[in-house]
Amino acid sequence: MHSYIYFDNPATSWPKPDCMIEAMIAFNKTVGANPGRSAHRLSIEAARILFDTREAIASLIGADDPETIVFTRNATEGLNIILHGLLKSGDHVITTSMEHNSVMRPLRALEREGIELTVIPCSRDGEIDPDDISRAIKKNTTLIVTTHASNVTGTIMPVDEIIKIARRNGIIYCIDGAQTVGSVKIDVKKQDLDILVFTGHKSLYGPQGTGGFYIKKGIEKRIKPLEQGGTGSRSEFEEHPDFMPDRFESGTPNTIGLAGLCASVKYIDRMGIENIREKELKLTKLFLEGISSMKDIRVFGVDDINRRIAVVSFNVFGMTPSDVSYILDRKFNILSRPGLHCAPSAHRTIGSFPEGTVRFGFGIFNTEEEIGFAIKALEKITTGHKK
Ligand code: ALA
Repeated sequence: MHSYIYFDNPATSWPKPDCMIEAMIAFNKTVGANPGRSAHRLSIEAARILFDTREAIASLIGADDPETIVFTRNATEGLNIILHGLLKSGDHVITTSMEHNSVMRPLRALEREGIELTVIPCSRDGEIDPDDISRAIKKNTTLIVTTHASNVTGTIMPVDEIIKIARRNGIIYCIDGAQTVGSVKIDVKKQDLDILVFTGHKSLYGPQGTGGFYIKKGIEKRIKPLEQGGTGSRSEFEEHPDFMPDRFESGTPNTIGLAGLCASVKYIDRMGIENIREKELKLTKLFLEGISSMKDIRVFGVDDINRRIAVVSFNVFGMTPSDVSYILDRKFNILSRPGLHCAPSAHRTIGSFPEGTVRFGFGIFNTEEEIGFAIKALEKITTGHKK
């Protein structure tokens, strides 16, 4: 099909399932209308596609009401709605040093507006001690926000323990699931999650420009929407509706993108998240074992494979991450992402700031042969650069 070995899945997954692409083409060819705005059949069909997508995501993450799912353009928009909509001057928020800029930048902006911020330092493997979160809680702590898994080291955060801490202290916990929704089993009801932000274009294999969040019933009332506008509902009022999901969704949505996301979420569901996780961990293990004897390669993150997602950051001694990525691309057709991965705080934590790391991220379409080829390429690079 193509000659690339694509290991940049944490940035966006690729290739995409054919059914996802076909659903987007079908939407434009046979539906095309604005959902829920007009009373004609095509508008109703477009609205049905949105409802199906909401239902498919709700079912994938164990939410029993599709209206607890809000669509956004991406995880960043979801996080901004939650952080800016919830936090008020005088509130205290706790986060970790492993966060992506989609969490850190809104929090730094809010800090300038009078929100108190505590960033819990993680270990050099990217792990957090949940007791540090407990110790940081104050009377005015309103929110804990953490990634579910680091986009730099792949380290999975102990979210179930953090939920217990949040519950004990009456604090809302928001999880950034950009790297995990679709590749790690999540059950929002069983795990009693408050807010789970997701993106459509990574482990859900949907198109770019899709994403959203799950919000537990009742919490939405505490979040002031960032935008108001047309919803197709209650058009007789100039006040924006406060019911879900319209409360957070204004303007014509990305219906074509959500049509694609609907198909890809169903595809992921058919594959089974447990099977996906097993496959991705097998590839990760194979890669880590393959490079373990290469003395010039330093791998970041935890050793225990079960506390990782399929993301591996590494560096080659004596070479910059950009040079390694460039050679992998140009000489070996292996596509990776070098640098800081929009997560400078995570790189400071693991000791790779400012140059960053080379990052591989494996997905459902990667194969053991590709991993074998990448290991051989790195063998050649590590021996070649010394000559
Ligand atoms: N957040 C994406 C990444 O980690 C873009 O590469």
